[in-house]
Amino acid sequence: MDKILVHGGHTLTGSVKISGSKNSALPILAATLLTKEPCVIHHVPDLSDIHYMLQIISHLGAQVERASGTVRIEAESIKTVAPYEIVRKMRASVCVLGPLLGREKEATVSLPGGCVIGDRPIDLHLKGFEALNAAHRVEQGNVKVFASELRGSVINLRGKLGPTVLGTGNVMMAAVLATGTSVIEGAAAEPEVVDLANFLTKMGAKIEGAGTSRIIIEGVKELHGAEHEVIPDRIEAGTFLVAAAIAGKEVQLKRVEPTHLTAVIDALNQSGYRTTSGVGTLTLHGNGQAKPLQLTTEPYPGFPTDMQAQMCALLSRTAGSSTVMETVFPQRFMHVSELKRMGADIELEGSTAIIKGINRLSGAPVMASDLRASAALVLAGLQAEGVTEVNRVYHIDRGYESIDEKLNGLGAQIERVKA
Ligand code: EPU
Repeated sequence: MDKILVHGGHTLTGSVKISGSKNSALPILAATLLTKEPCVIHHVPDLSDIHYMLQIISHLGAQVERASGTVRIEAESIKTVAPYEIVRKMRASVCVLGPLLGREKEATVSLPGGCVIGDRPIDLHLKGFEALNAAHRVEQGNVKVFASELRGSVINLRGKLGPTVLGTGNVMMAAVLATGTSVIEGAAAEPEVVDLANFLTKMGAKIEGAGTSRIIIEGVKELHGAEHEVIPDRIEAGTFLVAAAIAGKEVQLKRVEPTHLTAVIDALNQSGYRTTSGVGTLTLHGNGQAKPLQLTTEPYPGFPTDMQAQMCALLSRTAGSSTVMETVFPQRFMHVSELKRMGADIELEGSTAIIKGINRLSGAPVMASDLRASAALVLAGLQAEGVTEVNRVYHIDRGYESIDEKLNGLGAQIERVKA
């Protein structure tokens, strides 16, 4: 298994280009299954999660061609059973359920298990399909959803822990081909949901309200091919902003959408970091006298859970006492024990991390447990004394395109050791 060695103490400066959004690209690629006609998607990041999704799509019978960041998919005829060997590797595979159900009125995907960031049920996805007149059955670890006809209705997708991002996308993808009008109440408002709705609209879907908690979908008979460019990855951008806060002089992000990062920018500003934004650019100007923060993760437009681990790395070395409360995935704190191995002073009380900032972390061998936790460990290593050895970096390759090369381009010293 590859590992990453981060040599601490090097200052970051310069500019870095942000890739297309993983969490937008995954459901958008799945949505191409809704039409027989070819679709062309640009700015698709080169990540292992994307490869898995393309493998599933091609297994389902679609022609997939890929040239650098552009993917062409033509799904003239499709099967409705997604292969377990690929699906088990990536939870986001569940987002083929919606398009297969929409087009073929049935779909079978192996039921995703738990994952390190917590129990991750799909009850809300199934509740949404049920409201559209589909039934489901769990058999031998697979979930099969099926309907004789999909009928629009009012669907409340708000769960105990807030809205569901992929659930909203999944139900939207099924509802676009249902008969009549569907109203999704308690919809997720994340930019990735808006991007998917924009793509579906280009395919001929009739959708209003994406980006709010109420999405209205008027079903159409069929969709056609479309071309689309995926939005910039706001979590990759946020991760580089935090890297700049940890170890930067002045770092500019290019091809970024600053309005998608308001909560992250606000938090950094509140902590004393100055940022400026332009059209498609965002710059963090050096690290001054940073102040501790009291942060709570929330659904968009609140502070994103996908930036929580990276902020813990930053606050570990910010003088004073900070708190970080996780409300979206209350158990998502696997990075805490690893940061503590680097000297961080963090205590967990339920789903809140209480962080007492120390001056300097020290490099140590650490274990990546999930995507954002691994990013946090790399960031912590940037200003740690000595070398931080991050093991199991396949987690990071699931969601960051060449993070080591991009950070090295800014002046970091990171080596990838191939197994
Ligand atoms: N939930 C339910 N029932 C459901 C679905 C979700 O109870 O049927 C709960 C979850 O357990 C969680 C909360 O609702 O507590 C929110 O989960 P959500 O469904 O919104 O998560 P997701 O759609 O599966 C996406 C991203 C995650 C990101 C979350 C929250 C993708 C591929 N994944 O997951 O991204 O953390 O939204 O913003 O879009 C990551 O990129 O590292 C990542 C984990």
